[in-house]
Amino acid sequence: MNKLDEYFKENKSDIVLKLKLIEFNSILKDLADRLNSDGDYSNSFNEIILNLTTIRDVCKIVRPKNILEIGFNRGASATMWLLHSKAKLTSIDTKIPKVSVNTLNKNFKDRLSTIEMNSQDIIKDKPEWIGSFDLVFIDGDHRKEMIVKDINTALKLNPKYILFDDYYHIAHMHEMQRIINEYVKENIIEIIKNSYHMQCLVKVIERKE
Ligand SMILES: C[S@@+](CC[C@H](N)C(=O)[O-])C[C@H]1O[C@@H](n2cnc3c(N)ncnc32)[C@H](O)[C@@H]1O
Repeated sequence: MNKLDEYFKENKSDIVLKLKLIEFNSILKDLADRLNSDGDYSNSFNEIILNLTTIRDVCKIVRPKNILEIGFNRGASATMWLLHSKAKLTSIDTKIPKVSVNTLNKNFKDRLSTIEMNSQDIIKDKPEWIGSFDLVFIDGDHRKEMIVKDINTALKLNPKYILFDDYYHIAHMHEMQRIINEYVKENIIEIIKNSYHMQCLVKVIERKE
């Protein structure tokens, strides 16, 4: 019995998630083949299933219509957002593989826009984005000064919610949590859920100028 079968034997009622995981796996396998990578997604089953359930739960809370993702990489989390919501997803990264975009467009027609850009240029280059996202997912550069910059950018966009990746990442969780807590203390955001695997969902209280 493989890990997938084992998981769903224990979580029998999770049919929808099972179907999404099967779909996710097939999209990601397609991507791995096209990117000529070793398809390392299959090696990190636990991470995938936890991320998939997290993103499902976040979508249930936020019910997003427009999501901005900072950090597309190969498109794994983008696939999860598209699978679990009906939202339009705008995903940025400094470099975006064309094959990922083609694969995702094939599966989620018209719901994905990808833009090669630096997150630091968002407010300068895309002022029309202000007020247009209900959720910003921050998963870009995880150095502390860059996390602060991305939070401030996200706040200027005035979303209802922000989801931070790597809240429990062994390498930078202390820094991440310290930074997020400073914003909480200033009453700018409030933590909605931080027990997710790696992620922390916050609600924006006040717009930071
Ligand atoms: C951890 S990966 C994102 C993983 C992706 N969300 C996923 O789950 O598949 C981080 C990504 O952020 C991108 N990145 C780093 N700094 C950035 C910046 N200043 N602006 C935009 N993207 C950035 C990197 O190129 C990298 O692809």
